Amino acid sequence: MRSALRRSRRANAPIDRTDTSHMARQKTPKEIWRSDDGTSTLYRGDQLALMASLPDASFDCIWTDPPYFLSNNGTTCVAGRRTTVNKGAWDRSHGIDEDHAFNLEWLSECYRLLTPAGTIWVSGTQHVYFSVGMALQQIGYRLLNDIVWEKPNPPPNLGCRCFTHSTEMLLWATKASKGSRDRYTFNYKEMKKINGDRQMKNVWRIAAPGNNEKQHGKHPTQKPVALIEQCLRASTAPGDRVFDPFAGSATTGVAALNLGRRFVGCEIETSFARLGRKRLVAADAESNSVSTP
Ligand SMILES: C[S@@+](CC[C@H](N)C(=O)[O-])C[C@H]1O[C@@H](n2cnc3c(N)ncnc32)[C@H](O)[C@@H]1O
Repeated sequence: MRSALRRSRRANAPIDRTDTSHMARQKTPKEIWRSDDGTSTLYRGDQLALMASLPDASFDCIWTDPPYFLSNNGTTCVAGRRTTVNKGAWDRSHGIDEDHAFNLEWLSECYRLLTPAGTIWVSGTQHVYFSVGMALQQIGYRLLNDIVWEKPNPPPNLGCRCFTHSTEMLLWATKASKGSRDRYTFNYKEMKKINGDRQMKNVWRIAAPGNNEKQHGKHPTQKPVALIEQCLRASTAPGDRVFDPFAGSATTGVAALNLGRRFVGCEIETSFARLGRKRLVAADAESNSVSTP
């Protein structure tokens, strides 16, 4: 695992990120929210700095949505208007070699933080999932599935020079090697039941987040709670510890709390971290009111 990272580092120019994420790496992430029962937390700061402070095998599952590196000054369509595709400095590509070295680095730390039978979900578009898939294999994860998330109402393709982008990919992988005694969680029967008593396929049609999921504010790449809930229902048990190093508006945390799982998240941008905190406060209150008779 480490040798893959070292090889990649030797082959490429040293990482020289001048954006905020690199600068913030020096600082210790700050806890900005803790659940009422004290078992879930959100940190503001750099994911690598947070991960370095956590012990091995801290989490049963990781669900994350890292930078896609798609902010290339192109345009997209939002609410019928042409607008920039740029999401922020955190999403700018530094070239494929450096982007891959970045993916190897954080995915290696995730490997250390997972329990021996833990699983990881990483979402992405074509800009990033080839690198993520290769890095997962270089590090020693075992790929379990690629899930195609199909969006029923994608924005139209304004350039008309290729097909409309209407999917994102989720890669699901485990640390447990084939035939080992460590069995990763797959709640097969529950997924079959949800799917009308038929085996669930790897193409999931789920709507993008609606206004009800944006009542506390918006994140430019916010994921639907239903998408992450489906992943966590499949791969975790109540009480399991779920981690998201690139938490954004903390959708992973909302899904985890809704399902009675514990959550740790990290987000570097102050405004997104504040939005995540608001959503977690609401989800925590909601889950407490449901569990209190
Ligand atoms: C694709 S978005 C995640 C969106 C999230 N899934 C949601 O539903 O809101 C990636 C997030 O990673 C954050 N990020 C980028 N670099 C980071 C770093 N080094 N440490 C922590 N967070 C980082 C960005 O600010 C951004 O909010």
